[in-house]
Amino acid sequence: MLAAMRQPLPATGSSWSDLKARMLGYAAGDVRWRDGKTAVYVFNAGPEVEMVQKDAYALFMSENGLGPAAFPSLKRMEDEVVGFGLDLIHGPPGAAGNITAGGTDSITMAIKAARDYARKARGVLGPLNIVVPRSAHPAFDKACALMEIEVRRTPLVDYLADAAAMAAAADGSTVMIVGSAPNFPYGLMDPIAALSELAVARDLWLHVDACVGGYLAPFVRMNGEAIAPFDFALPGVRSMSADLHKYGYCAKGASTVFFRSAELQAFMGFDFKDWPGGRMVTPTLAGTRPGGAISAAWAVMNFLGVAGYREKQALVTEARGRIAEGVEALGFTVLGQPQLGLLAFTRTDVDCLAVWAKLRERGWFTGVTTEPKSLHLMLSPVHAAVAGEYLADLAWAIEAAKGAAPADARYA
Ligand SMILES: Cc1ncc(COP(=O)(O)O)c(C=O)c1O
Repeated sequence: MLAAMRQPLPATGSSWSDLKARMLGYAAGDVRWRDGKTAVYVFNAGPEVEMVQKDAYALFMSENGLGPAAFPSLKRMEDEVVGFGLDLIHGPPGAAGNITAGGTDSITMAIKAARDYARKARGVLGPLNIVVPRSAHPAFDKACALMEIEVRRTPLVDYLADAAAMAAAADGSTVMIVGSAPNFPYGLMDPIAALSELAVARDLWLHVDACVGGYLAPFVRMNGEAIAPFDFALPGVRSMSADLHKYGYCAKGASTVFFRSAELQAFMGFDFKDWPGGRMVTPTLAGTRPGGAISAAWAVMNFLGVAGYREKQALVTEARGRIAEGVEALGFTVLGQPQLGLLAFTRTDVDCLAVWAKLRERGWFTGVTTEPKSLHLMLSPVHAAVAGEYLADLAWAIEAAKGAAPADARYA
């Protein structure tokens, strides 16, 4: 923080109405995501869902999921949400899971479980590694940096995980192999069936990162799209991450991590009593667990139900289809065959990052993919209504970017 900007805590308090106005003033420079002009960071299922999120969050905002004995309400809501999730991803009888604070948390805890399983159940000694496709989310690297585990990133084939390359990279010290459903940079479903075969043949722990697709792909499949098996229906899958705060449309700070069995889940938890504060048992990374994130997830899921999710997800795939068709008409190539809400598209005669920068001038805050340089969208239901406007602005941006200096699309 710049020293000049540092301010002391006000000597006296202010009224809430004054503070609220000031906060809204601070937000004046934020992206206008409610208008549908943002296709990264925010999942916009419309004002009704936002209201349910907010009311349900506020109801349990002060309660703490760390204390299930004190707040059986939160424990019950968490168990019900985990059950909804397991039902959608073919969790077998005995499968188990928890709500975490987000995708990075779910992935970290799945790796922690796989590491402890390797050490304690398989007796693996010495340095450990995980094998992930090049497109896997950096959360895997962050978690492995914390746990001093090597990450082996393997090359892609057609933007997808290559099971043969992953097989070659795995060895006796591999605690996990990973597939994404879908991966973030391209929005494509990795060949999870092939990874599952590898996992079964070599007794490897396969984690499916369905942070993006976990609450989207099942409904897209129900809507008629041929989504290949990617979940616990495949015997090699031992754990999965699926984010409630993405295509589950729940309040931020909520994801789920799932395990094929409670025995595997037990390797995730932490149980400690060697201090003067009494025994402390935590299932996930957090100590204090915000009750609001749990209650909002429970409320949004029950508010939408299967019918509501199918309707929202149909809008997402409609937006993706219209935009894919529109960008191809404008001379772009869509990378692979996206089936869900993410897509990346490229062309070589213009700097796609410069196009991205021009679109920002028209209020669009979207993503980029860098290999190859592409525009990237993570679409919400609201985008079905603005697809035409986006395509018109994109046509303008292509012309405006011609001759522009190459841009560095650093937005995160
Ligand atoms: C495929 C994938 N996995 C994991 C994550 C990490 O999720 P979070 O940002 O909730 O930690 C993301 C975030 O976009 C993602 O796209």
